[in-house]
Amino acid sequence: MTEPSTDPFAIRRAEILERTPLAGAEWHGEIASTNDRALEIATAADGPIPHLIMADQQSAGRGRGGNRWWSQPGGLLFSLLVEIRPDGKAPHRSRLALTAGLAVCESIEKLLPDKTVRVKWPNDVYVNDRKICGILVEMVQSRAVVGIGLNVNNSIENAPDELKSTATSMMDVGGHPFDRTALLTDIVGRLLDESGRLREDVEDNDLLARWSPRCFLTGKIVRIDIGSRSTVGRCRGIDEEGALMLDTESGPTRHLSGTILIIE
Ligand code: BTN
Repeated sequence: MTEPSTDPFAIRRAEILERTPLAGAEWHGEIASTNDRALEIATAADGPIPHLIMADQQSAGRGRGGNRWWSQPGGLLFSLLVEIRPDGKAPHRSRLALTAGLAVCESIEKLLPDKTVRVKWPNDVYVNDRKICGILVEMVQSRAVVGIGLNVNNSIENAPDELKSTATSMMDVGGHPFDRTALLTDIVGRLLDESGRLREDVEDNDLLARWSPRCFLTGKIVRIDIGSRSTVGRCRGIDEEGALMLDTESGPTRHLSGTILIIE
């Protein structure tokens, strides 16, 4: 028999399964990457779906653009495997990426009501101008893996130097630890809801209204790199399709993908 955990902030797995319509879930003390594991299940014919993979630690956590994801026990590291649409069209993919960031942002802002929580296009979440959450969405045919790394009860005090001035955690900004089970349950519920609406092709008339007040880049001068092409301009927010809108010297531009660098 396993001993009940004495850590009041440990994840209560049964509660998550009880409160969300997941088909399955797995927990790992340490794993290379929860996204890699989810991709493995995504390609298995009889893999359970929707499925949650969680880990306390990752030895090879992946970020966008080939970056590594730093993590420490106390954070949330998980990947949610969901069905999207048999035709897996590109607009569905970008909507999933955008709504995943929004879902996390909305979950966090309930717990940090006096803080400024924003989404940095396409789906990083920032609190008080520092990154608190990174999201890596990957697709395999009609399945999508939404991989989320969220700094919760881990302090950035212990992070590598290059992250100390750019990252934060919920405990660092809130001043106390948070119930990770309730937070994870809330995020998973929202993500399942978003992916369900996407699968059923329900219009998202709310996307703009939810995104606009939370767009971290609005008003900032940014450079967007797409392959070897760069565009510099002042961000005007996103449009109803989720494209990032810039005012550049040669007029307005819109971008559906790219890597962002904030200039000022
Ligand atoms: C980014 O900011 O570049 C995205 C980071 C995504 C990190 C998460 S942690 C859980 C999941 N497993 C991974 O290997 N990556 C994602």
